[in-house]
This record gives sequence, structure tokens and C-alpha cells, in this order.
Amino acid sequence: LFKSNLSLYKIFSTFKLAISFLAKKDSKYPTYLIKYENKVSVLNNKKYTLSFSSGTQAFESLIRSLNIANEKIGVCNIVFPSIFRLLTRYFRSGNLKILICNKDLVLDLEKNYEEIKNLDYLLLTFGYGYPYDRQLINKIFSINSKINLIYDLSHSQGYSEKNIEQNMQIHYFFSTQGSKAISTGEGGVVSTDDLSIYKKMIFNSHLNRSDIKTNLSEKENLAVKIGILSKSRMSPLGAISGANDIFYLKKKIKI
Ligand SMILES: Cc1ncc(COP(=O)(O)O)c(C=O)c1O
Repeated sequence: LFKSNLSLYKIFSTFKLAISFLAKKDSKYPTYLIKYENKVSVLNNKKYTLSFSSGTQAFESLIRSLNIANEKIGVCNIVFPSIFRLLTRYFRSGNLKILICNKDLVLDLEKNYEEIKNLDYLLLTFGYGYPYDRQLINKIFSINSKINLIYDLSHSQGYSEKNIEQNMQIHYFFSTQGSKAISTGEGGVVSTDDLSIYKKMIFNSHLNRSDIKTNLSEKENLAVKIGILSKSRMSPLGAISGANDIFYLKKKIKI
């Protein structure tokens, strides 16, 4: 217990937490929150990461930042309830396809072949620390090269893919709530390589965030003052413990 709970790094981050709290750097976007997002980006091997007040808010902001009007989405029968609820809110029932998982909680490609061919989006929940096999992901793209994938990595944080082909559109999100490998108390993240989605998520959920990475136009600067969907930034103090968890996760999975 002592070995895992009392290391120099943890003592340092507890100290940092106290200082940030006392200095009232516990709101908006302090440097350590931006650093946390950058660390998640490196871990996820994605260009852009945005933090949110929960995994559910992260997913909603992502969904609202995609072009989903009249588009079809598939979801396995293994999906977190609040995430499924959002799908029923944003997709008409004819456009929301429930797909079958096999006994390993993995999408069954044979049974869902015809459905996969016609999908625009596919949400895959990586269950209980078991990531999808890369070959299976490649097969999904060989069935439908235009499909966009969204991974719910809440139970497989630390998973990432390298050498993704240009046409493979894949976005990650995860919850950092509770006792997950990366925990921020409450919270969630989205990671993507798509700058326009990253910007839209800022307009949707991050009122008044000024972010050098986005280089906003005049019109976009107005949009960021609104918070089109809601306001759902994370309480930044959680980022300190989240960054701490990333440090240990990397050590554990030897990245
Ligand atoms: C697999 C999965 N997806 C989504 C969520 C929703 O995240 P949150 O509770 O942070 O909204 C959770 C919550 O733990 C989860 O386990």
C-alpha cells in the first residue's frame, strides 16, 4: 500500500495541489490543466485533446461537433447507459443501429457485415481493459472505408494506435471519473486529430477559452463567447491527480 501510495511523485503532486488551491489557480484553464491535456494527447497519440466535466459531456460535445444530420451510427449492445441515452437523443431510431457483440464483448463482424457497410459512424466500447484488436479495426475499414470510428476508452485508458492511415477517421473519448486508471475525480476527455472538430468542441462547451492551437478567426472568436451546447469544463485541480495517474500508467504499461 505504501509503495503505491507514497512515492516522491505523489508527494510532489499533493504539494502542487495544495499550492494551486491556495493560489486560487483552481478555475478556468491554468497551465497545469493544459499540460494535462497535452499529456493525454501524447498518451493517446492524437493531436488535440480537450478536457470536460464528465465522460458523458465529452461524448456529447464530440457528437455535436460531427456532421450527423441524417447519418447512421452503429453501436454494440455493450455501451454505457448515459452514452446510449445521448445516441437516442441525437440519432433518429432508423439511423441508430444496435449491433451484436460476441462472447468476448467485441463487435461480431460476420453477423453485422451488411449493417457495417452502410454506417457513417461506429461507436466501440473497449470493455474491461481489453482493447479491440488492430486487425479487427482494419477489417472494419476494409468493409467500409468511409466509416468514422469513435472509441469509448473509459475502461482501456492508455490504449493508442500508431501508423493510422489517412482515411481512417478515429476519435477517442474516456471518462476519468472514480477509480479509473486515469482519475480526475470527475471528468472526461476527447482526443482527435481533426482540428475542426477540436475547434467546434471549444465553441460547444468551452466558453471563453483562448487557445493558441486553434488560431481563431474573427467569427470563431465570437462563437467561443457563446458556449453553443453547454458549459462543461473540468475542475482543474483534478488534472493534477490525472497527470500523476498518467505517470504511473505509463510506467505500468511500459510506454
Ligand atoms: C465505459 C464508460 N463510458 C462512459 C462513462 C460515462 O462517464 P461519466 O460518468 O464521467 O459521465 C463511464 C463512466 O464511468 C464508463 O464507464
